[in-house]
Amino acid sequence: MKLKDNTVNMCFTIEVSKVHNIVGDNTSVKNDLNIPFEVKRIYYLYDVPGGEKRGGHAHYELEQYILAVSGSFDVIIDDGTDRRIVTLNSPNLALHIVPGLWRELENFSHDAICLVIASHKYDEGDYIRDYYSFLELSRRKKIDREDE
Ligand code: TYD
Repeated sequence: MKLKDNTVNMCFTIEVSKVHNIVGDNTSVKNDLNIPFEVKRIYYLYDVPGGEKRGGHAHYELEQYILAVSGSFDVIIDDGTDRRIVTLNSPNLALHIVPGLWRELENFSHDAICLVIASHKYDEGDYIRDYYSFLELSRRKKIDREDE
């Protein structure tokens, strides 16, 4: 399978609107309104032991939004050429990760809850879990781009 020709510069953070109320705030994420894909799955990571890393994979097709609904952590995104580190530390700050990028999550605070809003159902066939395979696919992607 081919890796999508996306780069880390295509990943933006958005501020999801917050409804402020004296009894507490709420933030809602809406299909087709503030999300550019139809949500197929949500999952969350929590109780990550100090010093542990999560992620460590890329997807062929899946795109996602990641939020720190509690605490904070860093997301490293990598397109095979460039890397960026984005710190998520607010329940209404969402990072869009486009398909075809390697990602790792690290520096979890003890209270971190990482919410993931995904465009696809769980499919192990959509994962690239080996970094050197990812780099090889990324190298081929660049050759294809230069040939066009
Ligand atoms: P994995 O994607 O490897 O970890 P990370 O959260 O660090 O990216 O997921 C860990 C395990 O959970 C793995 O065995 C696959 C399983 N899993 C599901 O069954 N369904 C899911 O929606 C997800 C995200 C993972």
